[in-house]
Amino acid sequence: MGLQILGTGRAVPSRCVTNDDLAKTVDTSDEWIATRTGIRQRYFCAEGETVAALSAEAARLALARAGLSAADVGLCVAATFTADHATPSLACEAHALLGLPESAPAFDVNAACTGFLTALETARCFLAASHLASPVALVIGAEAVSRVLDFADRSTCVLFGDGAGAAVVRLSDAHPYACRLGARGDVKLLHAGGAGSGDRFLHMDGREVFRFATDIIPRTIHAVLGDAGLSLDDVDLVVCHQANGRIIDHVVKKLGVPAGKFYKNMQRYANTSAASIPLALDELFETGTLRPGMRVVCVGFGAGLTWGGALVTI
Ligand code: UT7
Repeated sequence: MGLQILGTGRAVPSRCVTNDDLAKTVDTSDEWIATRTGIRQRYFCAEGETVAALSAEAARLALARAGLSAADVGLCVAATFTADHATPSLACEAHALLGLPESAPAFDVNAACTGFLTALETARCFLAASHLASPVALVIGAEAVSRVLDFADRSTCVLFGDGAGAAVVRLSDAHPYACRLGARGDVKLLHAGGAGSGDRFLHMDGREVFRFATDIIPRTIHAVLGDAGLSLDDVDLVVCHQANGRIIDHVVKKLGVPAGKFYKNMQRYANTSAASIPLALDELFETGTLRPGMRVVCVGFGAGLTWGGALVTI
């Protein structure tokens, strides 16, 4: 059984921070950040702005575009590693803000930058196997990564941003779907905060993560397409996790496909972890780039290590 995206939405905090803004307080430059990553700006939550509120804003838009209301939601799954509280979950906080029905279970998944695809696959499995009051799931990817950034560490603080994306989905035979998820416990390469660590900041071995990403993305794309019996020629667009434009350039070269097949929007948002793929999908729907029948492969990778790919039919 396939999966149909009925509507998407996105939300970003009010505070836009350009590379030049950052260079006023961090030993960096727009030139370094832009050439090494493709990033030009990002949004950071201001005092009082919450991941839950961003999630609810993105979800309201997704529901409106799907022509549905909160009462139609049968399940809410959120992906994040920077929720406002350790508990209740972000999904429960969004549940409250949106006024979702009590019959709709709500919970978070944490798979870092692979979070949205993990949440999407979790929702699909629930829709297929659980008794839900409504066959419609709300899937959210939302982060305030700025809360765990060390602004004394220029090698990480320039790379990330905050935001939220949401999708309303249901099972559909007319929308073929395939998904592969994987993980390898390689904690030291990329980790952040948590009650047990005594250090709330994000730490990353950028070069090793770069190597990992450029290896796992092509393999994941081939695995998902193999499951679906398709080749890259059959795919209209690839939406990679938006960590670094150079990672995408390497993958494009490795796969020998036209660069235009891989969407890029890190210049506007930087790396928003679990929010990056739904933010990109929402831009693509909004601009009319995604049309019925198109095949899109989404690929995520991140802390864990985790990775995943999903073939989605529009
Ligand atoms: O969702 C999580 C996934 N994360 C990622 O995908 C990140 C993957 N990795 C990367 O994107 C890249 O490795 C980075 C963008 C993080 C770093 O790029 P790089 O080309 O690997 O740079 P580097 O770490 O090798 O550093 C090169 C130089 C160093 O200076 P020296 O030692 O050569 O003098 C750094 O100190 O660049 C320096 N540097 C900076 N300079 C200006 C590091 N950060 C900055 C900065 N501004 N912000």
